[in-house]
Amino acid sequence: LMKLLTKQDLKGKCVLVSAGPTREPIDPVRYISNPSTGKMGYAIARAAEHRGAKVILVTGPVSISPPENVEIHQVMTALEMAEVVLAQAERADIVIKTAAVGDYRCETEAEQKIKKTGDCMTLDLVPNPDILLELGKRKGKMVLIGFAAETEKLTAHAQEKLRKKNLDMIAANLIGPSDSGFGADTNKITCFSCGGASETLGLMSKEAAAHAILDKATDFLPECGV
Ligand code: CTP
Ligand code: CA
Repeated sequence: LMKLLTKQDLKGKCVLVSAGPTREPIDPVRYISNPSTGKMGYAIARAAEHRGAKVILVTGPVSISPPENVEIHQVMTALEMAEVVLAQAERADIVIKTAAVGDYRCETEAEQKIKKTGDCMTLDLVPNPDILLELGKRKGKMVLIGFAAETEKLTAHAQEKLRKKNLDMIAANLIGPSDSGFGADTNKITCFSCGGASETLGLMSKEAAAHAILDKATDFLPECGV
C-alpha cells in the first residue's frame, strides 16, 4: 500500500546510504565511537525504497530495525566502511553519507585487555580515510550528498565540506538542541547545494526530512538536471 501512495521517482535508480557510527577498537573490550543511532540514514534508505529505488545500506552497529527490501552491508570500523562503500558506490546513481565515521583509529589494537596502572595513559591514533572525499575525487555522474553535524559555525563548516569533498549537496544540522541531531526523532536541517543555494527545512520528522533530501537529490540526477 505504501508503494501505491508514494511517487516512484527513483524507479530504476540505485541509492547507496551509509548510516550509523563506526567503532574503532582499543582492545578486545573497548572501542572509540560516537552516539550516532542510524535513524537518519535508515529513514533515507526506507524512503528511497518506497520511492522505487534499489537501495544499498552500509551500516555501522545500531540497535534500530532495518528497512525492508534493502541490501544491507554491516560494518564495524571506518576502514571496513571505506572498503564496502568505495566498492558498492560503483553501482550507485546517488550516494548519501549519513554515517558518523570515526576520524581516527588506534595505531595498534591491544591483543589483551589493557590493565589500568593508575597512571595517565596515551592512545596513539592515526587518521582514517575520508570516504566521502575519496568518492568526490572519482565522482563521475554520481550524485553525492554528505551530512555535517556541527556544534558551531554551521554555514562556514558545511560550505567548506561541500567544496572540499566535491559534493552536490550537504545536509547540515547543529548538535546540541535536544530536538535535533544524535538520537533525536526530528531534525532541523539546512541543505547547502553546490550551486550556492541553501534552504533550511523546518523542524520535521526524520521521515519527512528523508523525503525532502531525496527530493533535492533527484534534482541533481543527470536527466533531471537543468
Ligand atoms: N565522512 C566520511 N569519511 C570520514 C569522515 C567523514 O565519509 N572518514 C563523511 C560523513 O559521512 C559525512 C561527511 O563526511 O557525510 C562530513 O563528516 P564530518 O565528520 O562532519 O566532517 P569531517 O570532514 O570529518 O570534518 P570534522 O569531523 O573535522 O568536522
Ligand atoms: Ca569527522
